[in-house]
Amino acid sequence: MAKDTSRLAVVTGAGSGIGRAVALALSHKRLTVLAVGRRLPPLKETADMATGGVRVLNADVATAAGRAAIVDELGGDRVHFLVHAAGTMPIQRLADITPDTWGQVMATNVDARLHLTQALVPSLTPGGRVLFIGSMSATKPRKGSTAYCTSLAASFMLQQCLKLELAQYAVLVTNAIPGPVNTRMLQAGMVADADVFPDRDEYGALREQGKLIEPETVGHFYAWLLTQTDDQSYSANQWDIRDQSHHAAWIGSRGLYEAN
Ligand SMILES: NC(=O)c1ccc[n+]([C@@H]2O[C@H](COP(=O)([O-])OP(=O)(O)OC[C@H]3O[C@@H](n4cnc5c(N)ncnc54)[C@H](OP(=O)(O)O)[C@@H]3O)[C@@H](O)[C@H]2O)c1
Repeated sequence: MAKDTSRLAVVTGAGSGIGRAVALALSHKRLTVLAVGRRLPPLKETADMATGGVRVLNADVATAAGRAAIVDELGGDRVHFLVHAAGTMPIQRLADITPDTWGQVMATNVDARLHLTQALVPSLTPGGRVLFIGSMSATKPRKGSTAYCTSLAASFMLQQCLKLELAQYAVLVTNAIPGPVNTRMLQAGMVADADVFPDRDEYGALREQGKLIEPETVGHFYAWLLTQTDDQSYSANQWDIRDQSHHAAWIGSRGLYEAN
């Protein structure tokens, strides 16, 4: 495989789950990755798991200071890919949602995606690609997950507006749904109180049926989407990992769950 360390990807939420898997898959493709999250130790683990080319930065994308730290760390380097994978999904009764908890979800799942993209516009190379990790929860209301569902719906509209706004810079933007993925976030949902979060049973059933998707499979999908699709395909669709029409291109004849 040709060495491609000249291309740089910024991946938020790269210390665990989907963000880590994307960072590893991109580094496997020999890109350089700036892995961002709040906690340094998991980011270092991500870097240790990679074969090289992963830089780490502990920064809170929900704050202006955290986003400024990312710009500083780049030091003028051009960015080819920006992956918004940082996210939070508190499971809460309606009565327990406070302005603080609501604000934190919006700041992480929506505001950070807007303001980090804005901050990186001068760094994004023409032909660069921005990827929003989307969710079925953007269109499927879930009891106990009001803040998360609302934030992902807002994130989806934000992505569509940014697609229009960034066209002038030849930067492409898409949203891609990973399905139910076996990560810390989903695991927390599965042990929540069933009265508060009834959908825990749906996820539990999927786990029993072997239909949770592993982060590594998702990372492979997103790395393919970012690096191997043509511009029109990348930005024309809202992608969904479960859509079989693209499976041949990245998992071949294996099924989605066999690829896990
Ligand atoms: N798992 C699923 O089934 C599923 C389905 C659809 C969409 N998604 C989306 O996938 C994304 C990744 O979630 P995941 O399932 O991989 O869960 P996860 O393992 O909990 O990953 C979330 C990551 O975001 C980081 N993060 C949270 N707040 C941050 C902040 N303010 N600044 C920087 N980093 C922050 C966390 O690290 P620190 O705590 O160290 O900051 C963590 O590494 C989320 O956007 C989620 O909405 C997940």
